[in-house]
Amino acid sequence: MKLLEYGDSILRRKSKVVKPGDPDVAEGILEQMLVRMRSSDGIGLAAPQIGLLKRLVVIDIPSEPHSILKLINPKITWSSEEMKCCEEGCLSLPGIYEVVERPASVTVEYFNEDFEPCIIEKAQGILAVCLQHEIDHLNGVMFIDHLERSQKSKLSREFRKRQKEKAILEAAAEADVELMGEGPEAEEWCSSKA
Ligand code: CO
Repeated sequence: MKLLEYGDSILRRKSKVVKPGDPDVAEGILEQMLVRMRSSDGIGLAAPQIGLLKRLVVIDIPSEPHSILKLINPKITWSSEEMKCCEEGCLSLPGIYEVVERPASVTVEYFNEDFEPCIIEKAQGILAVCLQHEIDHLNGVMFIDHLERSQKSKLSREFRKRQKEKAILEAAAEADVELMGEGPEAEEWCSSKA
């Protein structure tokens, strides 16, 4: 399962509402998303990030017990007037972190995997941030969109530079592997970059 990165136009599109009996949900896409997310040390993942334009989100915040959530069609139905600043990162913008201001608390309505209506009332702290960040993804919004224009373009340039450097390193590693063959040394080098 490949994660799309900033610059991919799919991340800018609006995801579709999921209907009961959805084949991806029936085949366990939410569990697969959790596994993929954890393998990259993420705490939240939205379906557009794996190239699927459906309103599906998974969340697992290790510091918050009982925070493993599989959300279908999540919707913010209340936001606090109080705002809060929190540093955010995103699996689609690896290496980029910035402080974003958002409502301190939100209420989210959604459906669970069995398509039962559920509600998270007045979520706070990192869960409130994560819910807003992931629901943004369903609407084609990335966290850096919340920053001032100059800060956003600075980070966007920084990320593109990183992507370019990564591509050069990967090309070099591939050339190395070809030279060294499939020995253990070559394998080690590949996995240390992953
Ligand atoms: Co994200």
